[in-house]
Amino acid sequence: MKAQPAPSRSHVRGPFLRVLAGEALDPPPVWLMRQAGRYLPEYRRLREDAGSFLKLCLTPELASEATLQPIRRFGFDAAILFADILLIPHALGQHLEYIEGEGPRLEALTSPVDIDRLHPEERVDEVLAAVFATVTSVRSRLPHEKAVIGFAGAPWTVATYMIGGGRGLDHALHWVRKDPAGYNVLSRILEAATVRYLCAQVEAGADALQLFDSWAGTLPDDTTFRRFSVQATRRIVEGVRESHPGIPIIGFPRGASRSGYLEYARETGIDMIALDQSVNADWSARELQPILPVQGNLDPALLSPGQNGLVEEARRIRRVFQKGPHVFNLGHGIRPDADPDRVELLVSTLRNEGA
Ligand code: CP3
Repeated sequence: MKAQPAPSRSHVRGPFLRVLAGEALDPPPVWLMRQAGRYLPEYRRLREDAGSFLKLCLTPELASEATLQPIRRFGFDAAILFADILLIPHALGQHLEYIEGEGPRLEALTSPVDIDRLHPEERVDEVLAAVFATVTSVRSRLPHEKAVIGFAGAPWTVATYMIGGGRGLDHALHWVRKDPAGYNVLSRILEAATVRYLCAQVEAGADALQLFDSWAGTLPDDTTFRRFSVQATRRIVEGVRESHPGIPIIGFPRGASRSGYLEYARETGIDMIALDQSVNADWSARELQPILPVQGNLDPALLSPGQNGLVEEARRIRRVFQKGPHVFNLGHGIRPDADPDRVELLVSTLRNEGA
């Protein structure tokens, strides 16, 4: 059952929210995962001025500027909040740093006992207050027809960083295989913190939410996928809807199998499913799009210099999904070496030409 959009938000029902509610539009609305980032020279300047990535995320004037940069440049239909999925572990008291050229480093949780040392989930409200202020600022500065997307990482994806400290998946996989009940304790903590965090984003003005389960495809088997991706996501969706019944939610179970995507589409209660580039578009149009709107799924590598076939592939994806509700996006986040001129070419290809 699809919940109705909250009436108070009907004034911002531009193309992106219309598709999320089930309408087929041609051309499709477009935004790109990780659309704010190092491939943009204006982002690199802002990042340098901020000094650290965490400071950029937690200073509303800077984070709202980063959120709006790609909208000004490309006119995307939705702005995704500039923040990071690892702000939740930060709020739960885990030491977090972003190392230049390497990525995030967390003080790893090495045993279930470390879970007891995490701060209570209520800390999210206070530690991440700046994020909610960013949402409000972005909403007030964006034209009404453009949506503001709030987001969080799904529990398994966030836990892989918390357990491995940012150094890989092995420890998290070992934990989930050997002690699923112990891992479940961590999953429940993350679910509660995430519901809180997402509800606060909606209250601050977010028009839709996306849950990034970027490592869903690494869960070792159908049982752990069902338990720690599908069911964890379903509980978050239900938790958010208890306070905000109409808020549209997008789910991204990256790397899941075909049967995994189907189960996730049917069982989580999300409103739209984001497809990674490994999922066959014709199959998705046949099997997933009748269940719910789809988002995706251009290979982000096509935006890097020297790649052939960008325009053809963008047209193909548009055509395959044309008869049903589709938001054009990438199959994963845009890469730091993406060429902004190719992003411009992508947007103009989608907007100016019939497929
Ligand atoms: O534009 C946007 O999409 C909004 C902001 C956003 C960021 N991270 C900013 C960011 C979003 C939605 C994310 C999600 C995120 N963060 C995910 C899920 C999506 C995915 O890509 O799978 C994950 C796994 C993370 C964790 C994370 N944050 C990693 C692994 C890294 C390092 C890799 C990298 O790209 O640098 C980050 C850092 C990060 N998050 C940057 C940005 C713009 C780069 C930081 C910098 O400026 O140096």
